[in-house]
Amino acid sequence: MNQISDISIYTSRMAKSCEDKLFFMNKISKVKNIVDFGCADGALIREMNKVLPDINYIGYDNNSEMIKIARNKSVDTSNINYTNIFPKDICNKNSLLNLSSVIHEIYSYCSTDEVKEFWDNVFLSGFDYVSIRDMCISENVYRLTNITDYWKLINAADKNQIRDFEHNWGSLMRNNNFLHFLMKYKYIENWDREVKENYFPITLEELLKKIPSDYEIAYIETYCLPYLKSIVEKDFGININDNTHVKLLLKRK
Ligand SMILES: C[S@@+](CC[C@H](N)C(=O)[O-])C[C@H]1O[C@@H](n2cnc3c(N)ncnc32)[C@H](O)[C@@H]1O
Repeated sequence: MNQISDISIYTSRMAKSCEDKLFFMNKISKVKNIVDFGCADGALIREMNKVLPDINYIGYDNNSEMIKIARNKSVDTSNINYTNIFPKDICNKNSLLNLSSVIHEIYSYCSTDEVKEFWDNVFLSGFDYVSIRDMCISENVYRLTNITDYWKLINAADKNQIRDFEHNWGSLMRNNNFLHFLMKYKYIENWDREVKENYFPITLEELLKKIPSDYEIAYIETYCLPYLKSIVEKDFGININDNTHVKLLLKRK
């Protein structure tokens, strides 16, 4: 795995959009167990616990350092546990699997076999609900960038960041690359890691095709984060018109 150079900056960034990440909590019923896949330092679980304190929470992460930090931050809470082994035993027990900002990391750092194992764990384990919130673009974003916006960006953005980005992903004249750059240019502290990470590994259409027939969509929303829209407007005078994120709640039929 590509090392996180500053864990505290990484985790505080993750914690920022907590409220948005809890979108599913008022849309579920009879859930007794929530598995938070890729729980990092447990910030999201602690927020979930404030909303629904009668649930048993299991945070799963393959980064042992994160698990150690998460355990330290949740010592006083008996209904929250952490593990670095995927908790299959909890499925089929009024359970929800939460995948928040994790799918793009799986694709960035796992082998093809591990990605397949991931989707099998998600959909073949028997969770009653699967909640997804991640960066995701539709196929229609794969077009040429608006030339005026392209010009604004290359004149105002950091030249070294543009060079690094285009070296990894190709020209900013492609609208998918343009949006991808706008999503990561702020992350200068962990830039060497972030620039290589694929924020859009699968399209919205590909994600929807993964849903097996025994699940139905209980909620879906595609959108651009208001914070991202406003910071990009402020920094470059660019108005983002495409959706960059998805919130999806699936329920087993
Ligand atoms: C971008 S952070 C998201 C943290 C949190 N879910 C949130 O939304 O704030 C992704 C987390 O997923 C974890 N992760 C990445 N690949 C993983 C894998 N294959 N198995 C388990 N955890 C993984 C990382 O260690 C990291 O803590």
